[in-house]
Amino acid sequence: MEASITTAEAEPLLGQPRAALPRHLTRRKLKRFLILAAILLFILGIDLLFSALSGSSYEVKPVSPKIQLPGSIKHSWAQYTPYFSFSEYTKPPSDCRITQVNILQRHGARFPASNENEPEGIEAALANLKSASVFLDPRLEFIKDYTYKLGEDDLVAFGAAQSFDTGQYDYTRYKHLVSKYSVPFVRASRDQRVIDSATNWTSGFGHASRGNPAPSLNVIIEESPNSNSTLNNGMCPNAGDASRQMGIWEDIYATNIASRLNASVPGATVTAADVTNLISLCALETVANIEPSGFCDIFDPSEFESFEYYGDLRKYYGTGYGQELGPVQGVGYVNELIARLTESPVRDNTQTNRTLDSDPSTFPLNRKIYGDFSHENEIVAIYGALGLFRQPDDLDPTSPDPERTWIASYLVPFSARLVTERLDCSGIVSVRMLVNDRLQPLGFCGSGDDGICTLDAFLQSQEYARNDGNGDFEKCFD
Ligand SMILES: *[C@@H]1O[C@H](CO)[C@@H](O)[C@H](O)[C@H]1NC(C)=O
Ligand SMILES: *[C@@H]1O[C@H](CO)[C@@H](O)[C@H](O)[C@H]1NC(C)=O
Ligand SMILES: *[C@@H]1O[C@H](CO)[C@@H](O)[C@H](O)[C@H]1NC(C)=O
Ligand SMILES: *[C@@H]1O[C@H](CO)[C@@H](O)[C@H](O)[C@H]1NC(C)=O
Repeated sequence: MEASITTAEAEPLLGQPRAALPRHLTRRKLKRFLILAAILLFILGIDLLFSALSGSSYEVKPVSPKIQLPGSIKHSWAQYTPYFSFSEYTKPPSDCRITQVNILQRHGARFPASNENEPEGIEAALANLKSASVFLDPRLEFIKDYTYKLGEDDLVAFGAAQSFDTGQYDYTRYKHLVSKYSVPFVRASRDQRVIDSATNWTSGFGHASRGNPAPSLNVIIEESPNSNSTLNNGMCPNAGDASRQMGIWEDIYATNIASRLNASVPGATVTAADVTNLISLCALETVANIEPSGFCDIFDPSEFESFEYYGDLRKYYGTGYGQELGPVQGVGYVNELIARLTESPVRDNTQTNRTLDSDPSTFPLNRKIYGDFSHENEIVAIYGALGLFRQPDDLDPTSPDPERTWIASYLVPFSARLVTERLDCSGIVSVRMLVNDRLQPLGFCGSGDDGICTLDAFLQSQEYARNDGNGDFEKCFD
């Protein structure tokens, strides 16, 4: 590219003075002139090359369509919430320079997931509703002729578009860290929707960079039952789940809604579980069709808020702080993050795959951007291992605390991301973390309002991970 710019610009400029060479121009002067011109052209070439490489003229044109529902509805769908940015991204202070970026991202919006029994739950709720002899509420009438036809498990087009867009934004935000020689290194967990999210991200990144560089998916980590993986939970057989807390809250929040619906569908019986499944259907059908689902009309904002809390409990007691063996499932990733931040080999005796992590071709330490694609339950465990979103008290399954910061739609919406930036602040290596663009207060390593900790303080704070979970990992098995 450098050569072609120089040649294209060089010919007319150099050709002219030679043709119009005045008599008094001596050979020496000509030589000096040519040298000067060559230097100028060289500088111009470098400049053009730089602006081409940094893509300074690139403006992101998002490909994700808008979902035409108010935030009070579409942002209260817990883990089914489509990605939204919580704040403007703020650059680090002027005395800090970003030197490395670690992106941990959830797959984009998907169809109902079979391993969560979502399709079965939704179909059972629909069958119950359809057994009504008459629909007394006009908002329910469409159900008479409704057929459920969503796919299963896969990324939906909207989720692919959001992943593509984050690739574009990440390029424009961090383009100074990439070049032909410094290409992002990308890993994904082996699940088609996660893989598709990763490759849509790489193509969004490559689109924005005009292929310079064009990252690709480098490593796929297995998800089979005996695999070691830092991008998937499920390696801790003794870990419990959140069903007890979810059951308590479902009885409380969904029973009144079930009675309300039940009264409009004589001949049918709507249960509390049906309510949860129908709100899930509203969310999942909306992201699949990129059009508000009719099921969203049958609930009001306060009911979505209650559903949100059901998701909050699910994550908190699933792999979050409310699960004794939750955060330990995030330790392996934190140890990989530490390895990258310090550019030294991974030290971990938990979930890491040592074969992958000891090989520079599958776990390099010399890149500037790392992208990892995963699932929300694993990302929640990683928040826990790090110490992010720690709550003063465990979530009460009988009543939501309006002051809580543990809100699933904020923590793990579709395409959620935790970004760890390594900084050079006047020579002091430091870090800061952003979740869905919002700067996180890193109280555990003593950050101020700027969210910045020195790398040393951060490493000190990560003693749980550095000690392989202080014995918790062993409890997964014995
Ligand atoms: C993006 O995701 C979709 C699934 O929604 C997939 O079919 C497609 O191949 C992906 N695109 C790329 C470039 O990976
Ligand atoms: C570790 O990764 C290698 C390479 O992908 C794979 O062959 C091996 O099965 C993995 N081992 C475990 C325990 O996951
Ligand atoms: C729902 O309505 C039916 C009558 O259509 C009634 O038999 C049943 O008890 C009601 N169930 C609830 C939970 O309200
Ligand atoms: C997988 O993890 C277990 C538990 O830490 C460890 O004993 C085993 O060596 C690991 N296998 C690989 C390939 O990393």
